[in-house]
Amino acid sequence: MSAPDIPHPERRILVGYASRGGATAEIAEWLAERLRHQPEPFEVSVAEVSDDLDPTGYDAVVVGSALYEGRWLRSASRFARRHRHDLADRPVWTFSSGPLDDSASTEEILITHSADRASRRLLARDHVTFGGRLAPDSRGWLAHAMVEGGHGGDFRDRARIDAYADQIAGELSMLPRRHPAA
Ligand SMILES: Cc1cc2nc3c(=O)[nH]c(=O)nc-3n(C[C@H](O)[C@H](O)[C@H](O)COP(=O)(O)O)c2cc1C
Repeated sequence: MSAPDIPHPERRILVGYASRGGATAEIAEWLAERLRHQPEPFEVSVAEVSDDLDPTGYDAVVVGSALYEGRWLRSASRFARRHRHDLADRPVWTFSSGPLDDSASTEEILITHSADRASRRLLARDHVTFGGRLAPDSRGWLAHAMVEGGHGGDFRDRARIDAYADQIAGELSMLPRRHPAA
């Protein structure tokens, strides 16, 4: 006897990220890890955004990018532009990773124009800027110069990242399922 065509039992969340040095990729992993330990048993996937990433099989999407010169990385901006219609009917949250000091944890960081545009395209419910990380062995002359200038370090605040995952989970749990069980 074939299995009845029932909706997927657990809501699926995609955490997509754009990262050059790995810091934002790790934030995405931390968000996912926290989202997997919520009262509602979400099924969470993490993936780098690219033209091949199809977000349509998910019930909710979280997408974030590292900031370089105030901008989201191109792949993340493209993802937002490309999928704005696909994602218009499901909840989206966005984040940025950037400031190389404690400012993201101690004050309200204004969203950059680029992150705001992407977030608006996706009708994001919220956006948060997390502190970033510049590793001593970062590639690129500018990154290297910044490290030499004393701007290196890890300013990612795990408690704020966990809190955002909790917020997302709480909001999502309040929303009706896309395909209610019959
Ligand atoms: C060349 C360069 C430019 C940067 N520009 C910004 C910026 O405009 N705003 C910001 O908040 N952080 C900026 N940062 C910090 C990065 O966003 C931060 O290191 C981030 O966590 C890197 O993420 P990734 O490792 O995922 O690429 C810059 C870093 C570098 C190396």
